[in-house]
Amino acid sequence: MDKKFYITTPIYYVNARPHIGHAYTTITCDTIARRHRMLGDDTYFLTGTDEHGIKIERAATAQGITPKQLADDVSAAFRGLWDRMGITYDQFIRTTDDCHKLGVQELFRVLQKNGYIYKDSYTGQYCVYDEMFVEAAPGAPCPECGRPTETISEENYFFKLSAFEDKLLKLYAENPDFIRPETRRNEVISFVRSGLRDLSISRSTFKWGIPVPGDPKHVIYVWLDALSNYITALGYGQKDHAKFDRYWPADVHMIGKEIVRFHCVYWPAFLMAAGIPLPKGIVAHGWLLFEQSKMSKSRGNIVRAETILDVLGADALRYFLLREVAFGQDGSFSFDALVQRYNSDLANDLGNLASRTLTMIGRYFGEQVPDGAAGKNAADEAVAGLARTTISDFDTHFEQFQFSRALESAWALVGAVNKYLVENEPWVVAEKNDDAARSRLGAILYTAAEALRLVTALIHPVIPDSTARIWTQLGLHDIRKCRPTDLQWGRLKPGTKLGKVEPVFPRADKSAIERMQHLEEKDRPGTPAAEPKQEPAGTGAQAGQPATQAVASGVQASDNDQKIAIDDFLKIDLRVAQIKVAEPVKGADKLLRLEVDLGYEQRQILAGIAKYYDPQSLIGRKIVIVANLAPRKMRGLESNGMLLAASLPSDENGKPVLASFLEDVPLGAKLK
Ligand code: ME8
Ligand code: MG
Repeated sequence: MDKKFYITTPIYYVNARPHIGHAYTTITCDTIARRHRMLGDDTYFLTGTDEHGIKIERAATAQGITPKQLADDVSAAFRGLWDRMGITYDQFIRTTDDCHKLGVQELFRVLQKNGYIYKDSYTGQYCVYDEMFVEAAPGAPCPECGRPTETISEENYFFKLSAFEDKLLKLYAENPDFIRPETRRNEVISFVRSGLRDLSISRSTFKWGIPVPGDPKHVIYVWLDALSNYITALGYGQKDHAKFDRYWPADVHMIGKEIVRFHCVYWPAFLMAAGIPLPKGIVAHGWLLFEQSKMSKSRGNIVRAETILDVLGADALRYFLLREVAFGQDGSFSFDALVQRYNSDLANDLGNLASRTLTMIGRYFGEQVPDGAAGKNAADEAVAGLARTTISDFDTHFEQFQFSRALESAWALVGAVNKYLVENEPWVVAEKNDDAARSRLGAILYTAAEALRLVTALIHPVIPDSTARIWTQLGLHDIRKCRPTDLQWGRLKPGTKLGKVEPVFPRADKSAIERMQHLEEKDRPGTPAAEPKQEPAGTGAQAGQPATQAVASGVQASDNDQKIAIDDFLKIDLRVAQIKVAEPVKGADKLLRLEVDLGYEQRQILAGIAKYYDPQSLIGRKIVIVANLAPRKMRGLESNGMLLAASLPSDENGKPVLASFLEDVPLGAKLK
């Protein structure tokens, strides 16, 4: 094996548990890695977790655990999920691994030695969510994501990014494939053309990071730390760097489009400054949307991969993501579409082709692949011809990361063979008892089986499990060892004894959708399984409209004199939060969508106060929220908490007045 192939996923932050957005990138890389192994390439597939930085430190503090405990827990969840999904990564790196730390410190020293690092003091706006300094006025939101920024003033180490403007532009010009797809490449070029400022690459106001060598008051900027994983994993800056020598530079860094700048500007600049060869290509895909917006923890609109694995299996998810999303563009996820694809393409088209073909070979030829030579006619030639073009089309599309197109071409072959079977009616031919009919029957079933073999091998990297099962049913051994030379028409040997034939894709009925939706509701972190679906008490919203503010009604004394114990009260986590974003919800004239800042986290709350408050007037207000309320969905959006408000009796609708403070209070402060 001479040709090597090195592919990486981003390393995922450990402040959020994995969802199918992360699975999308990982599945895509796994598919590519599996294909390269089948091509015979010496393939190395890296994934892992990004565990340092202020975002992780704060998330841990909010949960009352150490950053390392959070990292251990969530990193294990990622790894466990990838294992359960059969992801064939060769290495899972954690940025808290000792060897990674050594490698990053070595890179820092090399950058210093080469004269690209200097110390300076700096005041600027930092976006914790994006983990970067942004250009914004104090108090202004992040221009990238709209979340609040923090003013940070500290003495930092700086990287001379400004020195790389021309070199980067030259790199993009000379290597059109360095950034794919084209749209992302154009964005990066115009970003660099507009001028690069030096980059702060250390922080000194928190501890959770890799210390700057020789100056441990500072920790290395989390993105310099994180990007380095692609080389430290291979042994860069460590004693054993055989893998670095073998596999670097990476062939593909696969990423989501929101982190293009880090990978296409900062990363090559760091590498150039250190004199390390550059990766061959960075490939950015779009976002997986759920309920119209990017699936993300902070929005709360996530779907977990486990839910789909439980009900339909990993292959259904893999197939759906690669077939349904036009790679590079955003794509919507829905349970309906998932089940629809599964049933039509897998259960029906491929499943039927496999089960018919194999069952008939079982019945008419004693479970042995017949010889098709004698009874062959033009229809068989046509199928063989189509199979050849399919193989080459599939290759072409796949090489261009056009997975949905590649699969479309494979399914065109599946469809054509199903049609061929209907037209050639082997079940009718089997009724006739002459030699010619027998040869013809053999030819038809050979043609179908050979087409099935080829398509199965072709799509194996996408749906590895089910194709491996079809392969075994065809009587063949280890699909992973099927090489391009085996992808030629006629390689299926007559006489091959079939394996045990059984259905591979049981049809999913309507209840599959409900089961998945139920699992998502039930397993939402912090949502008790038996949570009653009733609306919270209160008059702040109209009947039929979920109320999301708890309303203190001081007028009608409660005629329920049941008292609660202090313990019951303490179950309610009341906190001070500040409204950062307030906007109407389309199609719901009573609801406002708020993003509130608790100091340790930002969250979305929907509140039925649109009739009483102008969204603009709310921004910046400090309010009280019930912070540990189970998340609820309204209009497809998730609400994570309730506002506290007094209900005014004079207004017949019970106008809510938000609870607030006369003195200043810090964000996140607990009320008790
Ligand atoms: O950015 N649709 O980590 P992260 C598609 N630690 N892909 C999605 C997605 C969605 N809705 N949500 C997440 C970081 N992803 C850094 C990376 S790399 C040196 C450091 C995928 O946990 C996609 O690949 O925010 C995206 O780029 C990545 O997860 C971001 O993961
Ligand atoms: Mg992110």
